[in-house]
Amino acid sequence: MRVSAAIHRAFEISEIDDRLYAAFIEHMGRAIYSGIYEPGHPEADANGFRRDVAGLVRDLKIPAIRYPGGNFVSAYNWEDGIGPKEDRPTRLDLAWRSKESNQVGINEFATWANELGIDMMLAVNLGSRGISDARNFAEYVNHPSGTYWSDLRRSHGVEQPYNVKMWCLGNEMDGPWQIGHKEAKEYGRLADETAKALRQLTPGAEMIVCGSSNNEMPTYPDWERGVLEECYENVDYISLHNYYGNSSRDTLNFFGKVEETGRYIQAISGVIDFVKAKKRAKNDVHICFDEWNVWYHDREEDSRRWRTWDWPEAPALLEESYTFEDTLFVACLLNEFIRRSDRVKIACIAQLVNVIAPIRAEAGGPAWRQSIYWPYQLASLYGRGRALRVSVDGPTYDCKVADDVAYLDVAATHDTQAGTVTLFIVNRHLTEAADLRMALTGFENARLAEHQVIEGHDLMTRNGPGQETIAPVPGKGLAVEDGTLGGAIAPLSYHVLRLRV
Ligand code: AHR
Repeated sequence: MRVSAAIHRAFEISEIDDRLYAAFIEHMGRAIYSGIYEPGHPEADANGFRRDVAGLVRDLKIPAIRYPGGNFVSAYNWEDGIGPKEDRPTRLDLAWRSKESNQVGINEFATWANELGIDMMLAVNLGSRGISDARNFAEYVNHPSGTYWSDLRRSHGVEQPYNVKMWCLGNEMDGPWQIGHKEAKEYGRLADETAKALRQLTPGAEMIVCGSSNNEMPTYPDWERGVLEECYENVDYISLHNYYGNSSRDTLNFFGKVEETGRYIQAISGVIDFVKAKKRAKNDVHICFDEWNVWYHDREEDSRRWRTWDWPEAPALLEESYTFEDTLFVACLLNEFIRRSDRVKIACIAQLVNVIAPIRAEAGGPAWRQSIYWPYQLASLYGRGRALRVSVDGPTYDCKVADDVAYLDVAATHDTQAGTVTLFIVNRHLTEAADLRMALTGFENARLAEHQVIEGHDLMTRNGPGQETIAPVPGKGLAVEDGTLGGAIAPLSYHVLRLRV
């Protein structure tokens, strides 16, 4: 198939917020315990954190991480995780029917994140608790000294406050499964008052209010309108969540779900604009897509298991094993985030280690990169700077979730500091190569500096410990000449091209 495309130096979408490549980790399953933290593991550091896992995390250049939940946060008492470890209580985690030992709490997690250069994005419990506990938590975390909570932190060996800037006001409060589930107005009021209190403690802090748990919730998108009408002026972001799957074994439809996500982002952008206009507000609210990933391989089976099990501690849960098909899907989804970087400022892959994650780690054993690690890493490393508009003229297809889906999915970024343009290209066609000609207007002197590709695998191929079959390799077959990129792009392939400009 022939595809002609174009970018133009002056046609920018937006400056990309680095936090488009943020992550999420929850106290659930083996994400924390025997994921990032495993005292006694041969790779454990003095604090009990696994160096092998930390190394894989470091390579992702993650700017920020959402913690400690997820559903877990809605019945979590943050004070259980501070002070001497031997005095910390073991509690029942109502969200995942597990036991929480509290051996990792805010200070341990902060040490880990800090060593990796990752900012924390902390969620407060607005399910079983409320403003008072959120305020105490923020005082413990962010106040310098001279008060009960700040001095308690200092007595725990943390002299300097963490100055956490990003605060999530609860989690999925529209979901009937959530402990402390609320109606939109009720939640919006609570979020508004909590945001006010947290801002008093940390001027300039950014507040993230819960949107719908996904775009199939019966209350979507009225939930967003109802919530924002109560708190618009006091928040900075509204969260979107979505998990994707291909249970019907229809690859093109699976890939088409990226277009559906575009509509989801568009719809919520419309709701934001509506409320802003209605309130005659001056401030902008952006989107924080703080949970996204593929989650379906073991989802049903997992759900059967954990709903009846007998409160195990750090059980294997949601340990999805990702395929090459998922690599391509994740690459397209990240492309969509780049294209919508005018509205989506923060996005968190959910989650980071073991639980629906790009990194897996065996207890007492090795850690490895799953197939989806690569598109996430490549986008995080090179998808920074400014997003450029891409016009693509080529064949399209219709599927259950969307019509007119372009086979060739392209995003482009221009990093003016590095002097590079990066093109992220996925050919979603199952059998046909794309014969691409792309005009690089305004970048007439561009030369191809690097080309990485993931291709040629069976869609169901997976990585495993010591067997990272799916990984980028140097690409060939594409060249830049006189301001035009041209060449063949194999079916079912993912390319990252770095042009020096
Ligand atoms: O990431 C797993 C779970 O998915 C989170 O706890 C919750 O917020 C979402 O429903």
